[in-house]
Amino acid sequence: MSKKIIIGPFKQLLTMNKLPVKGALSDDELEIIAAGGILIEGEKIVEVGDFSSLKEKWSDAAEVITLTDDYIALPGYVDCHTHIAFGGNRANDFAMRNAGSSYLKIAEAGGGIWNTVRDTRGLSEEELAQVTSLRADELLKQGITTIEVKSGYGLSVDEELKTLRAIQKASKDTNAELISTCLAAHTFPKDFDGSPEEYLKEIMDRLFPIIKEEKLSNRVDAFVEQSAFSAEQTLPYFELAKSMGFDITIHADQFSTSGSKLAVDLKAVSADHLEASGEKEIAMLADSDVVAVALPAASLGIGCPFTPARKLLDAGASLAIATDWNPGSAPMGMLVESASILATMDKLSNAEVLSAITFRAAHALNLKDRGRLVPGQLADFVIYKTDNYQNITYFQGGLKPQEVWKSGKKVV
Ligand code: NIG
Ligand code: FE
Repeated sequence: MSKKIIIGPFKQLLTMNKLPVKGALSDDELEIIAAGGILIEGEKIVEVGDFSSLKEKWSDAAEVITLTDDYIALPGYVDCHTHIAFGGNRANDFAMRNAGSSYLKIAEAGGGIWNTVRDTRGLSEEELAQVTSLRADELLKQGITTIEVKSGYGLSVDEELKTLRAIQKASKDTNAELISTCLAAHTFPKDFDGSPEEYLKEIMDRLFPIIKEEKLSNRVDAFVEQSAFSAEQTLPYFELAKSMGFDITIHADQFSTSGSKLAVDLKAVSADHLEASGEKEIAMLADSDVVAVALPAASLGIGCPFTPARKLLDAGASLAIATDWNPGSAPMGMLVESASILATMDKLSNAEVLSAITFRAAHALNLKDRGRLVPGQLADFVIYKTDNYQNITYFQGGLKPQEVWKSGKKVV
């Protein structure tokens, strides 16, 4: 039997208990336990409640960690959309966009993602694993205990495999949990000898079976956009992935619509970006179980409108927020910062923001075992030295975690 630990008292323990997965939320719906404590056994939470009562009930059987200042705790954050397995830097893209070019123009002129593909192919599997785990550690310090990581800068069967294997390796070198996604359909590789359809066919025939065999990922993504692949082109790719048991997630409606409809039709777990989504797309998403994922750091990186988060929530959709950390559109890699900026620009409640980076983000990854501090969930939590949870978004990322716990262990 593993050791039991009681930690507390927390001035405020935000459990996220009972909050629904879909729709708008107000702050008075948050369950906040005053003078709260958490009882952990092994990787899991056994009980949460009043610290003194927990101590009374369990102190014979548990180690007690007593906090003597004002601290708050909430579930470990989940970053459900990143591209941190990359080589190189695209600072010049940022400068070019600000000098009058655009994300799509740079891509159409042969730069953008393709430049990162060249730099990523130049790294060995070991080197790629190393940069990935270092970035994961940066995210972990922000309180992010689960990190989705996409491939997509390999763009050939061998290079995508290298990336997915590097992500698997990286996950052994970081205390954060990495969830990998195959994004072989990120853009059409210029050096492929054939059509986009033939490229996707090769990925389906040759890459998907190896991913299954080596258990490299159970998620498949595509960038459905003018500079990448159309909804029609990706339909057979997604249909096969689904029939093989992969979860589907889509880069949808970033500049033009069509991806979100595909996500709804395919019952994808999430549709991410949605900056270009209008009333029709919002209604469609709200009517489905697809989690809408806002990526405010990409809007800040590109200088384009934010995902209509307020409208999505008011229509009844589930909203998650992620960093999209990548070298092109979102080099910032800061979750609380970018989520707090979205909150102030789009008028989101604290309950909506914190749900979007905890259990709703976990939902976007089809993970039901984390994101709330309740018995049975993983003991993943963030501790801040403050007396009021509102300070998290108020300081827009300026308040840093004091401690981060992953699966019952203090890792930061
Ligand atoms: O989510 N939009 C497509 N993919 C990434 C950007 C990738 C890149 O520009 O390197 C995104 O924004
Ligand atoms: Fe992305």
